[in-house]
Amino acid sequence: MKIVILTGAGMSAESGLKTFRDSNGLWEGHDVMEVASPTGFAKDPELVLDFYNQRRRQLLEVEPNSAHLALTTLEKEHEVAIITQNVDDLHERAGSTHVVHLHGELLKVRSTNDESIVIDWRTDLNLGDLCEHNSQLRPHIVWFGEEVPMMDVAIELVQRADIITIVGTSMQVYPAAGLIDYSPQHSHIYFVDPNPTISSTERITVFAEKATIGVPKVIQNINFKF
Ligand code: APR
Repeated sequence: MKIVILTGAGMSAESGLKTFRDSNGLWEGHDVMEVASPTGFAKDPELVLDFYNQRRRQLLEVEPNSAHLALTTLEKEHEVAIITQNVDDLHERAGSTHVVHLHGELLKVRSTNDESIVIDWRTDLNLGDLCEHNSQLRPHIVWFGEEVPMMDVAIELVQRADIITIVGTSMQVYPAAGLIDYSPQHSHIYFVDPNPTISSTERITVFAEKATIGVPKVIQNINFKF
């Protein structure tokens, strides 16, 4: 079976990374537009670089959780693609081999004047860290108001899926949240979230659980049914 797994911040919550909306709308105490928008970066680049430096340092301290690891077992029998809104590398570290990052990657940076220049980056990024053309480097993150370049790839994957599993996302941020609308009629949808925003139907099976409990249940269901 072709399985697409759409994940959000809730997937990494049990690894110790805060979700966005569970932190009452503030990101580490910041207004999202201050630290995750081109205008915020133009206004106070050091604040933005420091915000992502803190998140990068924290990422290097945490590990994939058992839900990340459980998802990799599906690759034995099925064609699996993970489409994640998360910028962490926990799916990759758990062993998933096909991961599409819709909102960028925290462990990469790119040139502010040539976005094709993308560099792996695991330490702090500061003002004065320049690309080969002497332009300031910035986090390789899709900020609010910016294009989501991988969206076409993601839509294509969802359109061809037999099973779609959605884990740990409030489905509030578009275009990512709209991906479910591209699911083919014949596909079955699983949804794992302690506070689900959609309810079970003939086609949708909801597990109102946290990821480490719900994801294994989905996998059991898939292995039993398909
Ligand atoms: N297991 C599973 N789901 C969880 C857990 C958990 N342990 N803890 C919380 N959740 C759920 C919450 O109930 C919520 O529905 O995870 C979801 C997190 O939602 P958000 O904080 O809105 O995160 P997300 O949906 O990924 O946000 C999408 O918005 O802020 C931007 O670019 C950012 O990629 C992010 C996007």
